[in-house]
Amino acid sequence: MKSTDEQKRAAAEAAVAEIADGMLIGLGTGTTASFAIQALGRRVAHGLSVRAVATSDRTAAAAAAAGIALVDPADVAALDLCIDGVDEIDPFFRAIKGAGGTMLREKILASAARRMVAIADSSKAVGRLGARPVPVEVLPLAKRFVERGIVAAGGEPQLRLDARGCPWRTDQGNIILDCAFGPIGDPVALAARLAEIPGLLGHGLFVSEVDALYLGTPDAVVRSERGDCAW
Ligand code: 5RP
Repeated sequence: MKSTDEQKRAAAEAAVAEIADGMLIGLGTGTTASFAIQALGRRVAHGLSVRAVATSDRTAAAAAAAGIALVDPADVAALDLCIDGVDEIDPFFRAIKGAGGTMLREKILASAARRMVAIADSSKAVGRLGARPVPVEVLPLAKRFVERGIVAAGGEPQLRLDARGCPWRTDQGNIILDCAFGPIGDPVALAARLAEIPGLLGHGLFVSEVDALYLGTPDAVVRSERGDCAW
């Protein structure tokens, strides 16, 4: 029986095995993604030649420490493969991301990738999204206006705070509202509604980006492609 961490590591290592010489890779953020960064670093040390783009400053630091060559996201229009964690994922490969507060860059790189691979332990697979809040990145001056829009969309926004009780800041200097919606009946409609709110710069609903999932389970890693009946 694999522990949660062992499931994350096994899923991450299985996804990293997809990476081929010469690829440009998007690297996600979070504990599962950090197992992927370590695994990729080991492959690079054994001669694999790849370049990577990081979804956060902390991922950039971890990738550099692992010996992975980095490219500035501002210089990238398309990627071969993006590997990232999720907070929840449903059988249709719609996901909530952003517990780490980096979903804006994560969405850009996932969208730029020819193939987006999610990696997760079994606790992340759900029948319906919404047990966790949907994080949204907000321009600070638009906070009250965006809060009003979230409430109108049926959510309860809560400002994310840091350990000192100050507003948590993204790598871009913006704030985060964690928005509780409860069970989400139509994630595609909610994603569209959120995207229409001016001042809301990005949200953690990924409704179309994920192409494949490596799911760590207590026994083994299960790979599914979008369109498979995953669970
Ligand atoms: C960061 C993310 C992470 O990928 C997500 O929170 C999963 O994290 P972990 O692998 O630590 O459970 O979206 O913004």
